[in-house]
Amino acid sequence: MSAQALLKNISTESSAHESGLLMTPYGPVSRTCDEFWTAKQRQLHSLHYSNSYRASFKPELPDYFIRKLTNPGDRVGDPFGGRGTTLLQASILGRKGVSNDVNPLSERLAYPKVNPVSIQEIQDRLEEIDFNAPVDLSKEEDMSMFYHEQTYKELINLRNYLKNNRDNVDRFIEMTALSRLHGHSNGFFSAYSFPQISIPKVNQEKINRTRAADPDYREVKPRILKKAKTSLKSGDVERIRRWGKYQKLTTGDSRDLQEWASESVNLVVTSPPFLNQVDYVQDTWIESWFCGIPREEVEGKIVQTPDLEKWAQFISDTLSELHRVVVAGGYVAMEVGEVRYQGKMLNLDEIVVNLTASKDYNLGQFKVVEVLVQSQQFTKLANCFKVANNKLGTNTNRIVLMEKI
Ligand SMILES: C[S@@+](CC[C@H](N)C(=O)[O-])C[C@H]1O[C@@H](n2cnc3c(N)ncnc32)[C@H](O)[C@@H]1O
Repeated sequence: MSAQALLKNISTESSAHESGLLMTPYGPVSRTCDEFWTAKQRQLHSLHYSNSYRASFKPELPDYFIRKLTNPGDRVGDPFGGRGTTLLQASILGRKGVSNDVNPLSERLAYPKVNPVSIQEIQDRLEEIDFNAPVDLSKEEDMSMFYHEQTYKELINLRNYLKNNRDNVDRFIEMTALSRLHGHSNGFFSAYSFPQISIPKVNQEKINRTRAADPDYREVKPRILKKAKTSLKSGDVERIRRWGKYQKLTTGDSRDLQEWASESVNLVVTSPPFLNQVDYVQDTWIESWFCGIPREEVEGKIVQTPDLEKWAQFISDTLSELHRVVVAGGYVAMEVGEVRYQGKMLNLDEIVVNLTASKDYNLGQFKVVEVLVQSQQFTKLANCFKVANNKLGTNTNRIVLMEKI
């Protein structure tokens, strides 16, 4: 399908945030703009906030669809799992989850959340790890712009320990350490940096110069313990741990979910990469380094394209695979955003709706039930006055809800 055909019936910027009808060959589809879930931050289980992740959605999003469209014991999937938001919320709500991502980092972040351990276990294990074994820094990557020499030695010792020790306590410690690798407060291991993205070394050097500060010593162990306590503060660890055996993680391409059985998933709640919005490889390079995931293992497999036709083909192929794994009458809630494309704002929900209606793509596979646009409180007022308040890119969630037919 050409980009031109994909852009047919696309709304103008001013109508994109209003409730109304989207025209499709199989009839009108309603698009509702509302505040479907709270815009307040950090309202759900504290485990959700164990890590930052690029372009992750709030747990309220899967929570909304899981409660609405599934029953306890049903299976909920996410082929673009990221930090495991859908998986964890499915587990908390007593559903069986399955989460996939092409980046092996996703499994490192998501597994410990659905297999949590107690703070006592973490504390005891941290005491057993030798953070002060001698380290020959000349054999290690130069990370002196991020870490004080002593901090770095402790990190290398932890990293070496985690290569051979991988029970659930170790994995929880790894996930927590990953969340502390770079950030702007004293709770992180690094000099002042960005918490959400791993910035390049040269950028970190620039920050250090501007702030006239070299990295100071940040002891690793107490920072892990403190963050682990925050992650576990909502409790319920025993119950989530028991459900862990029903949660499954896979690493691979969303177009070929080999380990997902056919007709096994009742609901998919997911968010694919949006055209070229995020560089998932570059922006997580420090985490990948810590986990020993070679860049080549991920590069080329992650779909990041500025090309609308290629993106549409990718979404279409993913939908075909989801059609195989979803039960008859099951649902896919696909969250997409608004992106800048050829100088204009493009609402990717409309592209997905056009795709499902297209002969070349998935006609007859999924039927769009509704499009939901979650508007944040601060944009709501602006929307009432028909003021487009989206110049900076994605600031709303646009969810295409599809039913398998
Ligand atoms: C928008 S993020 C999903 C974030 C997730 N909803 C969360 O809350 O953490 C998109 C994810 O798609 C993954 N991805 C990119 N290309 C992929 C592919 N071909 N197959 C599977 N996953 C892919 C990226 O690694 C990234 O984690």
